[in-house]
Amino acid sequence: MNAPLLRIENLSSGYADFQALFDVSFDLHAGEALALIGANGAGKSTLLKTIVGLLPCAPQMLVHRGDKIGGLSADKIVRRGIALVPEGRRLFRSLSVEENLIIGGERGRAGEWSLERVYALFPILREKRQQPSTSLSGGQQQMVAIGRALMANPEIILFDEISLGLAPAIIKDIYAALPSITSTGVSAILVEQDVTRALGFAQSFVCLQEGRVSLAGKPADHSRADIVAAYFGSH
Ligand SMILES: Nc1ncnc2c1ncn2[C@@H]1O[C@H](COP(=O)(O)OP(=O)(O)O)[C@@H](O)[C@H]1O
Ligand SMILES: [Mg+2]
Repeated sequence: MNAPLLRIENLSSGYADFQALFDVSFDLHAGEALALIGANGAGKSTLLKTIVGLLPCAPQMLVHRGDKIGGLSADKIVRRGIALVPEGRRLFRSLSVEENLIIGGERGRAGEWSLERVYALFPILREKRQQPSTSLSGGQQQMVAIGRALMANPEIILFDEISLGLAPAIIKDIYAALPSITSTGVSAILVEQDVTRALGFAQSFVCLQEGRVSLAGKPADHSRADIVAAYFGSH
């Protein structure tokens, strides 16, 4: 197997008074989509926030293209090509759709993504481009959040709760757009409540339980019962 694009090695992380992750290790390969699953509170968001530099960790716990990047600032991480689509979107509420997208571009790397390309991916955003981001539906705001991350030209994109609370029709639209993102060679880590959907999309998965990896591998190599047990635990 090729050297991984991103190696997560014995990563521990958390908050001032609470350790949320313990010795988490797995690899993300170039072009791979990986589903990160686990019950509420398992540590999925904490892991994604740690990867993008919003929470501290030791340098060797994150290795990107052979470089130890744990603890780098969020600015440096996005300039290396790792971008987060955060849970709850976190758009700039006072700015228009287009201004939110442009800000994403200013933070990241040079590359192929442009306003035009985001609008081609999500045509509704072209129609709404001058509107305040707050006037959009939740699903349309999620499209802006995805577009904003793409404008940074990531080679790794992290989606936290990509479909939580969205209408089924818009979830379908968002999933329909994902292959045109990952087919460009972008790797993805996807956090999604709907495990069947997540495992259907991803080539590999990691299940967290109470801050530890409880199961990992390829979806087809594990029974539903094993995955359910890894997800909920035995208590
Ligand atoms: N800001 C915070 N301060 C302290 N503890 C937190 C904070 N955010 C999350 N936690 C705790 O960290 C654990 C993991 O949370 P999180 O990563 O959000 O889980 P998940 O995304 O899998 O639902 C939980 O026990 C949660 O209560
Ligand atoms: Mg979460």
